[in-house]
Amino acid sequence: MINDLWYKNAIIYCLSVGTFMDADGDGVGDFKGLIRRLDYLQGLGVTAIWLMPFQPSPQRDNGYDVADYYGVDPRFGTLGDFVEFTNGCKQRGMRVLIDLVVNHTSDQHAWFQEARRDPKSRYRDWYVWSEKKPAHSEDGVVFPGVQKSTWTRDPLAKAWYFHRFYEFQPDLDTANPVVQAEILKIMGFWLQLGVSGFRMDAVPFVIARKGAGITKPVEQYDMLRSFREFLQWRQGEAIILGEANVLPNTDMEYFGETGERMQMMFNFQVNQHLFYALASSDTRPLARALKATEPRPATAQWGLFLRNHDELDLGRLTKTQRDVVFAAFGPDKNMQLYNRGIRRRLAPMLQGDRRRLEMAYSLMMTLPGTPVVRYGDEIGMGDDLSLPERNCARTPMQWSSEAQGGFTYSDSPVLPVIGDGAYSYEHVNVADQRRDPDSMLNWMERIIRMRKEVPEIGWGTFAILRVDTDEVLAMRYDWRGNAVLFLHNFGAVPREVTLRPGAEGTHDSLLVNLLSNDHSEPGTNGRHSVLLEPYGYRWFRVGGLDYLLRRSDV
Ligand code: NOJ
Repeated sequence: MINDLWYKNAIIYCLSVGTFMDADGDGVGDFKGLIRRLDYLQGLGVTAIWLMPFQPSPQRDNGYDVADYYGVDPRFGTLGDFVEFTNGCKQRGMRVLIDLVVNHTSDQHAWFQEARRDPKSRYRDWYVWSEKKPAHSEDGVVFPGVQKSTWTRDPLAKAWYFHRFYEFQPDLDTANPVVQAEILKIMGFWLQLGVSGFRMDAVPFVIARKGAGITKPVEQYDMLRSFREFLQWRQGEAIILGEANVLPNTDMEYFGETGERMQMMFNFQVNQHLFYALASSDTRPLARALKATEPRPATAQWGLFLRNHDELDLGRLTKTQRDVVFAAFGPDKNMQLYNRGIRRRLAPMLQGDRRRLEMAYSLMMTLPGTPVVRYGDEIGMGDDLSLPERNCARTPMQWSSEAQGGFTYSDSPVLPVIGDGAYSYEHVNVADQRRDPDSMLNWMERIIRMRKEVPEIGWGTFAILRVDTDEVLAMRYDWRGNAVLFLHNFGAVPREVTLRPGAEGTHDSLLVNLLSNDHSEPGTNGRHSVLLEPYGYRWFRVGGLDYLLRRSDV
């Protein structure tokens, strides 16, 4: 397999322009501010930046309510600033992915406004209407407790319109070929301005058939192939990273049997079971989730993440498992959301315990796929549970101990900067952590550097090795004659594991520790014994120091 699939060994960093860095002092982050921080991101080792929606929007769902697909919200800058940004990334060898939110528009979008005003408008059938109130209009809401239904009557249109999400996000009729052509045009536009692909929002809903008579969504998977084909005709390296929280038995429908659909998807199955393992110290369900999501075409890749900008959705766990995670990480009602998830950032969930944070990120970096780091996680930022819904984990980036965490000169930031308690900007910020060699930030930079030097993770095949305890996950990767081994102790007590890292019958010499000088020699029985501290982790290269000589990709 050629090495050109850049996303196989990428480090993706996700941020929202409005809360990253404000250069013009109006309290809202902007592209000019972001451009000033590109050297920081390059220094951290980021190879691709995923921007959350920045197009003009009433901002009622953090920009996931787009009012114009071909522009930049004036709060964040201009199209010119955007191109300066993509060019700045290119100069530093970083790629740009942007959100593609085409399941729905904002109700303020000109298309919807015209569609509701005039039944003969060319935009009328870009949306999904019903003359009468559809049966089951209360079913299928995505935000239970906040969203009441999936159909709302529009007095102007004198009809009901369908919205999978909030009522201000009318669904586009994505089965309409004219709408599909427009989606391609949107992709083509941003490709031309320098992006390398799209994080596609809400993919299962984009491809679902929509309409009053439809009770069970039927997916039109082939739509994904046409998106993919267009992308690659226009620009060979461009990818789609899909947001699809689906069961493993449909993964291949999304990737396509021969990899002809999406190149990447977030691995929600592994994400949820990973949090169960962190909460319970039992790695078995995580190991099963890894196995269940293993089959995928050679060109496809998982996006691995811990927390993202939404709630930690635990809907795929059993009730007992979910209760264990709630009890450990979100015991208060105020920490929970939509009856299925936890809305906190990772650091407070793990009580700021550096051992557990390192273990969690080390794990994320070594699971099969490409890691996606969320802004602020590299310094262990916290949350503000006084903010509504998911906003609690979307507070501005904490750059320094200056006023407003150095995010803005304004005293009214777009969302409050965390200013109280253990996670306040006085205690948690980039400037201080930069100067401290033992900080989380510098640890993160080192682990990212090492992750990039171990392409086996992104490219290779993995095996889960049996060890003496279910509290330790042992994984081995093989690729092009090289092998690496990772151990993670999920338990609060030290564990000694004995293992034979190689395939049966092979000679396993040294295990070279990639993070320290603590290498491991096999015992006389050919087995290795490794003593892991509580929440300890190890990165080993199997079989000696000469691997660089054997690496065939360098
Ligand atoms: C998924 C996004 O991650 C979430 O933030 C948003 O609210 C919905 N899609 C609707 O666009």
